[in-house]
Amino acid sequence: MKDSMTWEDTIKKIRKEDAFKELVEKAYFDEDLELNVNRFGNSEEFKETLKIIRSSAPKASSILDIGCGNGISSVNFALQKYHVTAVEPDPSFTIGAGAIKKLKTFYALDNLDVYEAYAEDINFKNNSFDIVYVRQAMHHANNLEKFLKECVRVLKPNGLLLTIRDHVIYNETDKEWFLKAHPLHKFYGGENAFTAQEYKDAITNAGAEILNELRYYDSIINYFPSTNNEVNSLKETNKLNQKKRLVKKIGKIGNSWFVWNLYCFLSKYEPLNEAFIPGRMYSYIAIKK
Ligand SMILES: C[S@@+](CC[C@H](N)C(=O)[O-])C[C@H]1O[C@@H](n2cnc3c(N)ncnc32)[C@H](O)[C@@H]1O
Repeated sequence: MKDSMTWEDTIKKIRKEDAFKELVEKAYFDEDLELNVNRFGNSEEFKETLKIIRSSAPKASSILDIGCGNGISSVNFALQKYHVTAVEPDPSFTIGAGAIKKLKTFYALDNLDVYEAYAEDINFKNNSFDIVYVRQAMHHANNLEKFLKECVRVLKPNGLLLTIRDHVIYNETDKEWFLKAHPLHKFYGGENAFTAQEYKDAITNAGAEILNELRYYDSIINYFPSTNNEVNSLKETNKLNQKKRLVKKIGKIGNSWFVWNLYCFLSKYEPLNEAFIPGRMYSYIAIKK
């Protein structure tokens, strides 16, 4: 089965199966393209992204959206009045550049241009865009260094680079675990991930300065559709369970504020442990130097 289907075949297949209903909704893969656009536009992830853009690049007017799939982000940025250039290598009318062209017509967007290309091969002029935004596409790079060099080359000086929700692995064993756990990899075989260091090196080698590394639990941008409340309640439950284990081990003194905090400090205890999430996603905020 592995590698026998294209990405488009995979999405068309899962749309028909009840077992993938939630994934189709959460990953914005619905056949109804406007529904995906509306869902993404109203998501906490997109709202948080807009906050970052508005505070880090308040005067920005142009956005290059690379590897933009079925256009959920490109169209929403265009609806927010940015001038958007959407770049997507897959021509598909349901999951790729063709879908974005349909949406451009549907929303009558004259501030959205669509191109079919890989990031490594874009041929825009140097210093063209205020913002380069890449959502869940950097980890698919054929050549990570070249991918980032092109992103930064076309950014204006001091322009903002946002790489959003890319899978991070710690080592090859962790990568195998992630690929096995990925619900769609077995169909189309196209998943991938890099280490955080590889992403950071590629971004800095391309000439951008990383302002913020958002690790998995640092931002709702990464963990959405989980909510902040869900993440906070997971944190409290984990703490409670860990405290119970401590009390079992050392007795009631483990309940004391001082002993508990000393234990957390000495053992570097983190109630939210991203290591339990296969291919946990990170985002990077960087500027072109
Ligand atoms: C997981 S999808 C994300 C799509 C979209 N950005 C989103 O968030 O819904 C990954 C996308 O990256 C595109 N892609 C794969 N390799 C790429 C590359 N080298 N350069 C640019 N885009 C690429 C794929 O065609 C696919 O549409």
